[in-house]
Amino acid sequence: MMNIDSELLQRFEAGLDPQRLSASAVPAKVIGYGEISAIFQIEGDDDTVYKRLPIFEDRPSAESYKKMHVEYCALLEKAGLQLPAHTTHIVEIPGRPVAVYIAQQQFAGDRLCHRRIHCIDEAGCLLLIERVAAEIARVWTFNAKAGPDTELAIDGQLSNWVAGEAGSRPAQLLYIDTSTPLMRKHGVEQQNPERLLKSAPGFLRWIIRWFFLNDVMGRYYVPRLVYTDLAANLFKEQRPELVPETVAIANRFLKDSEAPLTVKDIERYYAEDKRIWTVFLAFRRMDRWLTTRLLRRRYEFILPGPIKR
Ligand SMILES: Nc1ncnc2c1ncn2[C@@H]1O[C@H](COP(=O)(O)OP(=O)(O)OP(=O)(O)O)[C@@H](O)[C@H]1O
Ligand SMILES: [Mg+2]
Repeated sequence: MMNIDSELLQRFEAGLDPQRLSASAVPAKVIGYGEISAIFQIEGDDDTVYKRLPIFEDRPSAESYKKMHVEYCALLEKAGLQLPAHTTHIVEIPGRPVAVYIAQQQFAGDRLCHRRIHCIDEAGCLLLIERVAAEIARVWTFNAKAGPDTELAIDGQLSNWVAGEAGSRPAQLLYIDTSTPLMRKHGVEQQNPERLLKSAPGFLRWIIRWFFLNDVMGRYYVPRLVYTDLAANLFKEQRPELVPETVAIANRFLKDSEAPLTVKDIERYYAEDKRIWTVFLAFRRMDRWLTTRLLRRRYEFILPGPIKR
């Protein structure tokens, strides 16, 4: 748990212009983008990051998201993962969607594993990837024991893990990507996909819904796909030379009943994933344009600029 200044968050949300951050009443900068949330730092508070989810039609649905986030975090810890200090907070501004903020301890850039792989040698990278793969495996062990009552999903890519201070002895990695909790109870997904779909353009929601339900929400429960995603992300992070060894590491963590991964599988997955997210972002930009320019309404989401993939 951590303490946050709820009055500051209220003022921040009230004075926020998502399309002109520099004009916001409380100065802030975006330090990361998710598919749904944007990650901020508020000026004057260097120790905390805020993940903003402006997707709730009313307070009860924000409350239920918060509750699920709390439960998901507790279960990840029960599975043996280590999380940073965090807390969830609801901010309600009349006439706007209700927002959930997840506050989290802030980590310096080179402690995030997708940055660290650019600062250490190849052997060090592979050691780090091996440790990430082992952390992910805690979830599979948990699911094997707790399932089918409870199953947890995890997004294992390197950008979701934080390592110890550079030069320190490897302590356990911290998992930071808790803002989209997915879990199943008795085989039934507990997350309401319609909430997450709020960030998608209305005119495309029907097709995205189909793809989201059939593909995206399920993939984080499947060891083979989670490790595929981890390996494929090395292309995005511009370290393709690490892919073959990462595939070998992943295969050691797969059950004998699962078909081993090949570099070809990873390449195929990456090509498709890149296409999907590029198209999705292009449509969100189009939606923003329609909303702000044509309809002259407020567009709630903060979108990233060009992404190198
Ligand atoms: N606690 C933190 N300290 C420093 N940087 C962070 C922290 N949390 C997130 N970030 C930055 O923001 C990026 C995205 O954060 P995170 O992984 O939590 O969200 P996400 O991938 O967008 O998740 P989702 O799609 O589930 O909303 C991280 O890769 C990192 O660069
Ligand atoms: Mg992430």
